[in-house]
Amino acid sequence: MTRWAWADVDLAAVAHNVGVLRRAVAPAELWAVVKADAYGHGAVPVARAALDAGAAGLCVALTQEGRELRAAGIDAPVLLLSEQPPDELAEVVELGLVPTVYRAETIDALAAAVADRPGHTVGVHLKVDTGMQRVGAAPADAPGLVERIRSSGVLRLEGVMTHLAVADEPEHGFTDVQLHRLDAVLSSVPDVAVVHAANSAGGLAHVGARRSMVRAGIALYGMSPGHEVDHLTADLRPVLSLRARVSMLKRVAAGTAISYGLRHTFERDTTVATLPIGYADGVRRGLGLAGGAVLVAGHRCPIVGVVTMDQLMVDVGELPVSVGDEAVLIGRQGGAEITAVEWADRLGTIPYEITCGISPRVPRRWAT
Ligand SMILES: Cc1ncc(COP(=O)(O)O)c(C=O)c1O
Repeated sequence: MTRWAWADVDLAAVAHNVGVLRRAVAPAELWAVVKADAYGHGAVPVARAALDAGAAGLCVALTQEGRELRAAGIDAPVLLLSEQPPDELAEVVELGLVPTVYRAETIDALAAAVADRPGHTVGVHLKVDTGMQRVGAAPADAPGLVERIRSSGVLRLEGVMTHLAVADEPEHGFTDVQLHRLDAVLSSVPDVAVVHAANSAGGLAHVGARRSMVRAGIALYGMSPGHEVDHLTADLRPVLSLRARVSMLKRVAAGTAISYGLRHTFERDTTVATLPIGYADGVRRGLGLAGGAVLVAGHRCPIVGVVTMDQLMVDVGELPVSVGDEAVLIGRQGGAEITAVEWADRLGTIPYEITCGISPRVPRRWAT
């Protein structure tokens, strides 16, 4: 790895977080959500670390994500969290992924794909929309879909699931509304082996949401799902740090302005360090203008002016800095720390979007 910008991914922290989460949600199983390249952390290494630490299975959003895991030799259960396009269903069966279904058309198409393989049956999870209004069957349609699955002769109803809209707001009453709607569906669908509703926040904050398994993503990566549940995430360790080396240093005089639009003017003479990482790597253009900083020589140094596509500039003042020195955009240096949550708060978003946004152009270094 030669690029002077990279992300370090601490797989020991993944293992630690799996342990913390397993203890928190037991006796429910912990399933590791590794979609979107494990929220930018690298799906295959994270999946292996999570399974080794006791995760019972993996969750992905797309067939292609399941394909990547299987191609790496991972044979653990892999649950697809939503329906896949009809022309991917044969591959879903071929790869042995666990399909989620909620539309009659998909059940029929999946059954046809399975029927092409004589003697084969496939366990499926039925997703019920209890209030998220994203994907899932209406509760009233669930019994009919269950019957359709059973009567296909080749599909087995293995699980019933839903997804919570406000699990990260523990005082919000809507989580209970959703769980009651799930229970009403379950009362008309006896003998379901597996029931699941909780994401990270659901598993940590709502005992009643844990059911047979918890689908944890963000907490696995050591980030809190939201500030109202921060107190439940204190034992988690951040997994990803984002680093770059100083590629150029220059003195600038008071009154000098910097970067596109000349949006920042220096009030005093100072030293500017350039880092070879920019918005094409996932550092948002407005991070500096929103108060964002970088750790250099163990100190917080403000990002000055707008972040450009491939580079950003930092005011390092009179600190002893040389070209080639390591700067930390997310992570720890000395006693200081910058988190993805801090970026998210500054940018008016959530930490999910920060780590998912670190582009494939940034090399990942995995350490155990
Ligand atoms: C259906 C489903 N379950 C679980 C998760 C994991 O959520 P979290 O990262 O908040 O744990 C997601 C992520 O968006 C999801 O879409």
